[in-house]
Amino acid sequence: MPRLFDIRRLGPTDLDRLAQIDPLTARDARRRAHLGELLTLGLSWGAFGNGEMVGFAVVSRHFFNFPFVDLLLVAEAQRRQGVGRSLMDHCEQVHDADRIFTSTNESNGPMRALMARAGWRSCGRVDALDPGDPELFFVKFRSATYGAGVIPLPCHPGSERSELSGTSFSTAPRRSRMTPLRGSPG
Ligand SMILES: CC(C)(COP(=O)(O)OP(=O)(O)OC[C@H]1O[C@@H](n2cnc3c(N)ncnc32)[C@H](O)[C@@H]1OP(=O)(O)O)[C@@H](O)C(=O)NCCC(=O)NCCS
Repeated sequence: MPRLFDIRRLGPTDLDRLAQIDPLTARDARRRAHLGELLTLGLSWGAFGNGEMVGFAVVSRHFFNFPFVDLLLVAEAQRRQGVGRSLMDHCEQVHDADRIFTSTNESNGPMRALMARAGWRSCGRVDALDPGDPELFFVKFRSATYGAGVIPLPCHPGSERSELSGTSFSTAPRRSRMTPLRGSPG
């Protein structure tokens, strides 16, 4: 039986829901305050199954005014069922710029695997954030040819395009085995 979940826009009142599935947000007041601020932007998305949040993507425009997925997180028990991929696909579809960025630690195997699977392109690294574990940056262009420099598209980093909320996704159950995460999420 395929699994069903909805993707809905998040706001500041959803912060407790994020903390319920992200232990770091639950115990780190600074992270909680930071995510609370980002949620006020109204650019973030949550995946819900049976009314419960199963994952979220916190999005900002603080990276050269481009959409940037600051944090993607799926509840541990719900991983490897397509939730993370669906959230990233959704973020890609609803923003109004010509590209979207994200980043993760080099040690984060699951996120790097997701990036490869979803067709995001590596676009740089920063060594000065976590010593010994560089931050890798990824980009997804709205047109595949733009990134290759073939068809230049204008960039309009302005307001968010009208939302595609209430989207339903169905995912077939897949294996639940988790690759252990190394390093901190982000
Ligand atoms: C990274 C994360 C969001 C992935 O979410 P998810 O819902 O489990 O990912 P999906 O089921 O959508 O996986 C999509 C693809 O990514 C790859 N992938 C995801 N997790 C993987 C893992 N543990 N090992 C290997 N490949 C993995 C696979 O190619 C997968 O496709 P497949 O299952 O058809 O093979 C999740 O592991 C997580 O919440 N981690 C903690 C927070 C974090 O590190 N966030 C990223 C940095 S902000």
